[in-house]
Parts: sequence; C-alpha cells; structure tokens
Amino acid sequence: MSDGKKRLLTGLQPSGQLHIGNYLGALKPFVESYGEYESYLMVADYHALTSLKNPAQLGEGIIDVVADYVAAGVNPTQATIFKQSDVPEHTELAWIFDCLVTVPFLQQAHAYKDKVAKGLEANAGLFTYPMLMAADILLYDTDIVPVGADQRQHVEYAREAAAKFNQAFGDTFKEPQEKISEDIAAVPGVDGKKMSKSYGNTIPLFGTDDAIRAAVMSIVTDSTAVGAPLDTDKDITFALHRHFTPNLAEIQKRYVDGTIGYKESKELLAHNIIATIAPMRERRGALSREAVIQILKDGAEVARAKASAKMADVRKKVGVALY
Ligand code: ADP
Ligand code: TRP
Repeated sequence: MSDGKKRLLTGLQPSGQLHIGNYLGALKPFVESYGEYESYLMVADYHALTSLKNPAQLGEGIIDVVADYVAAGVNPTQATIFKQSDVPEHTELAWIFDCLVTVPFLQQAHAYKDKVAKGLEANAGLFTYPMLMAADILLYDTDIVPVGADQRQHVEYAREAAAKFNQAFGDTFKEPQEKISEDIAAVPGVDGKKMSKSYGNTIPLFGTDDAIRAAVMSIVTDSTAVGAPLDTDKDITFALHRHFTPNLAEIQKRYVDGTIGYKESKELLAHNIIATIAPMRERRGALSREAVIQILKDGAEVARAKASAKMADVRKKVGVALY
C-alpha cells in the first residue's frame, strides 16, 4: 500500500446519524481522493469518550461510522480502517506530548473553549484532546490530514507538538498539513441555516425514502405564487439541486421562466437525492456487524505494526528504553 505515496490520515467521531451535509462536505471528498494516498481512517473512540458516557451508544456509533464510510465507497482493502482504542500507542504518545506543552497553550484551543461555552464538562480529557489528536496524526508520519475547517487549529497543534518534540529530543516527527475542502460551501439545512445535527434541520443520508421525502418537503420557502419566476440564488431547494440534480441547467431555466413551483422542485430533488443514495444504502444494508468488526480487526493489526515501531524510537529518544 505504500508505493512512495504520501500518507493521509483522518479521524472520525462516532457521533450518530449522518446527514447529506456530512456526505457532501466530508465523505464524498474523502472517497474521491483517498486512493491517491496511503490512507488511514481512524475512529476516534477515545476522543468521543470526552463527552459520551454511554457504552452501548459508543459501541454502536463505532460500528455505524465504519459502515457509513464503507457504504459511501471506501474500500477497506485500499485504506487502513481502525479504531484508536485498538492501538494503545496513541494514548501513550499523547502523554508524552502532554509533558511538552503548557496549560496556557492548550487553553487557547477554540474547540475546547467552544465546547465549554456550550456547557460541556471541562474534563481533563477534553482539555488535552489536541495532544491525543496530535499523537493520532504523528505516529504514522502523516503528510495530509483532511478535516473540516473547525479542525484546522488542531492540526496546527499537531505541528507544534512535532516541533516541540523534535527540538527536545532530536528529529523524529514529520509536520503534517491539513487539507480542507473549501469548495463545498456549507450545505444548507431545511431551514436555510448550515445543515447540522445540532440544529435539527437535516436530511438524513441513510434514511428511508419516506424520511428523505418528508425532510425535503419540509424545506422552508417563501410565498411566491405558482407560475411566477423563482429566485435560484435564494431558494434552499435549488441550492440542494446543485449537488444532486444532473440536468441542473434545465431546472434553472424553469425557475427563471416560472414553469416550476416549489412543490414540483422539491419532489424532483427528493427523487434525485434518493437516486444518489440508494446504491449506498443498499451496500450499507448488506454489510453485517461481523464484517465491520473484521475490517476493524484487520486495520488494527496494520496500524499497530506501524505505531509500535514508531513508539520504540520515541521511547529510546526520551530515555525510558533501557532494555
Ligand atoms: P454537525 O454540524 O452535523 O455536527 P459535524 O461537525 O460532525 O456535523 O461535521 C462532520 C463533517 O461533516 C465536518 O468535517 C464537515 O466537513 C462536514 N459537514 C457537516 N455539516 C456540513 C454542511 N452543512 N455542509 C458541508 N459540510 C458539512
Ligand atoms: N477531532 C476530530 C473531529 O472532531 C476527529 C479526529 C481525531 C481527527 N483524531 C484525528 C481528525 C486525527 C483528523 C486526524 O472531527
């Protein structure tokens, strides 16, 4: 899997039902580009533990997120798919980084400040979260880290951890680069705000046809009468057509001519979303829990081999490897 390719690693929170915003903003770009790299897809289950204290939900979330990515098109023979907790070197290296960075440095993390401002418990795990993420990335000599814009600073923290370690103990870690897909502007939800599970305005990715139709039909519209032209720049339904509708120019013309109403436009959109999603939903349905577990076990073996070799060097460098 290496063939001189650059190495890519990203982490996924096992955080429940995906929506079409996640698909367009994260899964689709990943599926389209991971083959160019030696790719690692890691389920950040110990990161999830900073906020989730429900074992059944965490377990199901892990299985679901792997099934979602495989269904969306990630081939487990072409990427190493594993979970963080299966490779103890992640938490071990995170500790070493914790000993290299200061409290004021970690206090500047936007994600930490935002979460605490939203009322999340300020536990020590949440506080040192960026150093566990730095370990995830740096253990594999990662070049490229595809993430959402909200994670940009965390990749900067990983670079900083690498630099601090290299300065203290000699050249060991490569400084990674984030890859943020800027071209996908935030996909709007049914109320026109950014689609997000925290706003309850989502169209589910793996929902039933009925659930997708119901969400699409609930898209907010103005009161333009049927037969009058519709504004493609303002209409939420049209914004979503841009991502799912093959004959977009034709629909655009009908908006301008006033020969399509909101109801018909929504029905067409629901049809096109369902057509895009149906093959993925079928793949997801055919994927057993056992198959997902096997993918994780195989991935853990590959990841552990790389991580333990790197940690052997790290232990030597810091001075604890005496025998
Ligand atoms: P949510 O806002 O629903 O909690 P997350 O923050 O878990 O979503 O996002 C996971 C990934 O999905 C992010 O990295 C981001 O790239 C992508 N994403 C989420 N919502 C959208 C959206 N509305 N438009 C485009 N991409 C999105
Ligand atoms: N913090 C990331 C998020 O919330 C998830 C994550 C954990 C991650 N470890 C990572 C992303 C390593 C990229 C690389 O989305």
